Amino acid sequence: MAVLDILTYPDPRLQEKAFPVEKVDRAIRTLMDNLLDTLYHVNGVGFAAMQVGVKKRVIVVDVGERDGIPSKPLLMANPTLEWVSPTTQVTKEGCFSVPGFYENVTRPLEIKVSYVDENNHPQTLTPSGLLADCIQHEIDHLDGILFIDHLSSLKRSLIVQKLLKRKKNRL
Ligand code: NI
Repeated sequence: MAVLDILTYPDPRLQEKAFPVEKVDRAIRTLMDNLLDTLYHVNGVGFAAMQVGVKKRVIVVDVGERDGIPSKPLLMANPTLEWVSPTTQVTKEGCFSVPGFYENVTRPLEIKVSYVDENNHPQTLTPSGLLADCIQHEIDHLDGILFIDHLSSLKRSLIVQKLLKRKKNRL
């Protein structure tokens, strides 16, 4: 059990591509547990291993209780989008690697995702709404893509300028 340090933009490691997991073994399971601890520590809904500097295709997601159904964390290795709906949704997204900014992002409303679970079993899931949005955001991290990369170049550069300025002031 450990809370990990979160990388923030413009750390170049956030823009790299993660490697597939060969097998969900004890080490990957520990990584998943630590990511989940970190997620709950910061009150987030999703995390990718890339955000803590681990270049592996691992994400954890927990969007919390919805419609009276208790939350169940999803621990995913090698999550892959098998299908996305033509219908889209707009969600206000944020990211702990882009702290302090929240912007509307358009993504498919429904997805089919395949992955390997914490017990090394292959699974598929067909979520929609917030869960679908969150999983897409986290899969993006595994390909070095941040939510600000989905914004207009003007909006994106405004956020990038502010982030760089903030970082400079802290040094
Ligand atoms: Ni993020």
